[in-house]
Amino acid sequence: MTGPFIRPRRLRQTPAMRRLVAETRLHPSQLVLPMFVADGIDEPRPISSMPGVVQHTVDSLRAAAHDAVDAGVGGLMLFGVPRAEDKDATGSAGDRPDGVLNRGLEALRADFGDETVLMADTCLDEFTDHGHCGVLTESGDVDNDATLRRYESLAVAQARAGAHVVGPSGMMDGQVAAIRDALDAEGFIDTTILAYTAKYASAFYGPFREAVDSSLVGDRRTYQQDPANRLESARELLADLEEGADMVMVKPAMSYLDIVRDVADRTDAPVAAYQVSGEYAMIAAAAERGWIDFDAAIDESVLSIARAGASIVLTYAAPEVARRLARR
Ligand code: PBG
Repeated sequence: MTGPFIRPRRLRQTPAMRRLVAETRLHPSQLVLPMFVADGIDEPRPISSMPGVVQHTVDSLRAAAHDAVDAGVGGLMLFGVPRAEDKDATGSAGDRPDGVLNRGLEALRADFGDETVLMADTCLDEFTDHGHCGVLTESGDVDNDATLRRYESLAVAQARAGAHVVGPSGMMDGQVAAIRDALDAEGFIDTTILAYTAKYASAFYGPFREAVDSSLVGDRRTYQQDPANRLESARELLADLEEGADMVMVKPAMSYLDIVRDVADRTDAPVAAYQVSGEYAMIAAAAERGWIDFDAAIDESVLSIARAGASIVLTYAAPEVARRLARR
């Protein structure tokens, strides 16, 4: 014997062999593109901390959505950015039918019908003047149950505007059950709930605050999860499934791949993971300095999120990743 008998490298010798034995295969339809639609702007506004990502007008939103769907992306997740003067304590611009998010949903549903999966962020933080995901008590705490009433109204407005999927991202207790009841009561029995099941209080949401012109002062640690905790996500998962979640989500993705794996192991429901603004920004910033190859790093990160157990990946790079996947 002159060398090792077992040679794992045999399976790595050609691109064709590597393709044959690949354990994780991504399809463009597994990717979801988060998009921002803003009120009171005449042309798309770049988000400086997220190169290549913009706040859209309704028209540019439609164009970008067509591009994403053409690329094979499986769904679109919409966030609304109201005018500053339309923000108030209860986030009323969120459930008004003429609120910018609902107008964006309506336009996209009219364009696409059922050709793509249209998702909406079901949360108040984009619409409140204090920037929190819920309404506040007099002492300034987030009022869980009063917030549920607002989420019910938001979800119904989004379903009415054309959302196939509502995505409650506020981490209030009982949000899935409340929204399910409200949707059913209005006849939206097929509107699907993508529950933000394990959403951590993360520094990686930094650029998103710019993306939605957030007014938040302070943090969200009384409602989003402590990054130290793992088992807590299993409890959140149980609650969401019992309350009627159709799909579940872990967020952020890259620093929480252990949680993605845990959740995937514990449920048969579709598991989504969200490569958030800060994850995208880190890669984009390093690439701008020539320190990292943007395409390769994004592709690898998305693949690793799928390998960890996500069957759906939300990423701001969805269209380009989808195009590269389709070429492979
Ligand atoms: C809340 C919401 C946030 C994100 C998605 N939904 C912000 C937050 O929780 O602070 C962050 C997404 C990202 O960073 O890309 N509506």
